[in-house]
Amino acid sequence: MQIKVRSGQINRWQDGVRVVAALEGDEHPTEYLPASIARDRALTQLVKDSGFRGAANESVFLPWGRQWVLLVGLGKKEKLSLESLRQFAGTAAKILRGRGWKRAAFPLLTEKLFGSIADSAQVLAEGALLGLYRYDKLKEIPKHERNRKLEELTFVVERTADVREALRGVEKAEVIVEAVSLARDLINGPSNIITPTYLANQARAIAKEHRLRCTVIPFARLKRLGFGGIVGVAQGSAHPAQFIVLDYHPSRFRATFAFCGKGITFDSGGISIKPAAKMEQMKYDMSGAAAVLGTVKAAARLKLPFRIVGIIAATENMPSATAQKPGDVLKTLSGKTVEVLNTDAEGRLVLSDCLHYAKRYKPECVIDLATLTGACIVALGSEAVGLMTKDDRLAQRLEEAGQKTFERVWRLPLWDEYAPAMKSDIADLRNVTNTGEAGTITAAKFLEEFADGLSWAHLDIAGTAWTEKDKPYVPKGAVGIGVRLLIDLMENWKA
Ligand code: BES
Ligand code: ZN
Ligand code: ZN
Repeated sequence: MQIKVRSGQINRWQDGVRVVAALEGDEHPTEYLPASIARDRALTQLVKDSGFRGAANESVFLPWGRQWVLLVGLGKKEKLSLESLRQFAGTAAKILRGRGWKRAAFPLLTEKLFGSIADSAQVLAEGALLGLYRYDKLKEIPKHERNRKLEELTFVVERTADVREALRGVEKAEVIVEAVSLARDLINGPSNIITPTYLANQARAIAKEHRLRCTVIPFARLKRLGFGGIVGVAQGSAHPAQFIVLDYHPSRFRATFAFCGKGITFDSGGISIKPAAKMEQMKYDMSGAAAVLGTVKAAARLKLPFRIVGIIAATENMPSATAQKPGDVLKTLSGKTVEVLNTDAEGRLVLSDCLHYAKRYKPECVIDLATLTGACIVALGSEAVGLMTKDDRLAQRLEEAGQKTFERVWRLPLWDEYAPAMKSDIADLRNVTNTGEAGTITAAKFLEEFADGLSWAHLDIAGTAWTEKDKPYVPKGAVGIGVRLLIDLMENWKA
């Protein structure tokens, strides 16, 4: 779909359906944005008669002159934010497509409340484009549905002077949405297609397209080089593991970021096998890796002034005659040994090698993203990413980026009193506690052992990477979480 920006009055718009936002009132919507619409008596009466109140994502079609208006609620004024606009745009775009509309015009809401014109335009475009995302590569779509495509959206600004700025926001959104959609495609894709090799090829393709450096270390070499954490997990699988480094290295840059992604293309649990119910969902155990690939791609296209190194451990976690067994001790890349008491706690094993590997780039900060623990879903559900770090400044920056992008993070403690739970009698570390307490935090304490000397943050996305219900701009399935968060973090990075 194409997004255009034009100046003019939305009430004079003739081309396609017009989409209008309304604020929620107790009985009727109280105000319309922009004000030009509020002055239309006949229309406001019709709205009242329709029973439409303006609640968030409520919608109604109404005739206006000889055309249609799609009214979509923004919710209460006190709760208004950029996120209201994202949801509004996602809801509207999906309804328009569902009704077979090809073209529509949105007023660009430019209230101070929403920040700059560029910001409003960006979130509106994000909401609409992300809302229209579908994973339909693997099934036949009936022709009448395939033809139902929203082709063009026009954002209407009142002042001609604002067109350029709005366009800037739209262009940024297009880059970001492409990266989020790539992440979603990789996550929604089944594990027989999205294998470790597939992820490596994807990284190579991104590198080729955007002139990045890509290094892939295949399984046989990982064994020789001592990547014991990854090898332990990968040795039970028929698909060879791939260690992927995607390096965006502009000639001049302000700082280096390393992003590590858990890339378990299927987590059966290994010999400590998971129950059958919902095991199919474990294809999303590579959501961290997908976020890293999307982030590096978007950053390169946006020409961010940073060196960004994406580090991904891609492998399956399978039971087989060659799989690691409970009680096995492996030696990680750092030299630290780990007693593997539960083969289903595999994410921390592969990430330990990624974190250690990141040190060679002397990064300003390292952030890992991982669908690491079921305990994180218990603690935070699907509304917040679990954040663990000892770096208060990094935590604050991630919290701010989370608010802005609505990929919100919630910090859990990383106190040293949690560390003894991960000590083993026969090795340096054990990969699970024996009490099951504080599962999310103790997993992070394990990772911390491999992040010594780094400014490091861990993001547990187990609860947020996948959604079981449709949301205004996230259809059921992969969320693609992390890309928008990390891009925003870097865009607002000050030394
Ligand atoms: N990939 C899972 C965590 C997970 C569970 C992500 C559900 C998304 C949804 C991870 O590898 C795992 O199995 N963790 C174990 C750790 C336990 C054995 C200490 C868990 O959370 O049960
Ligand atoms: Zn697992
Ligand atoms: Zn896992």
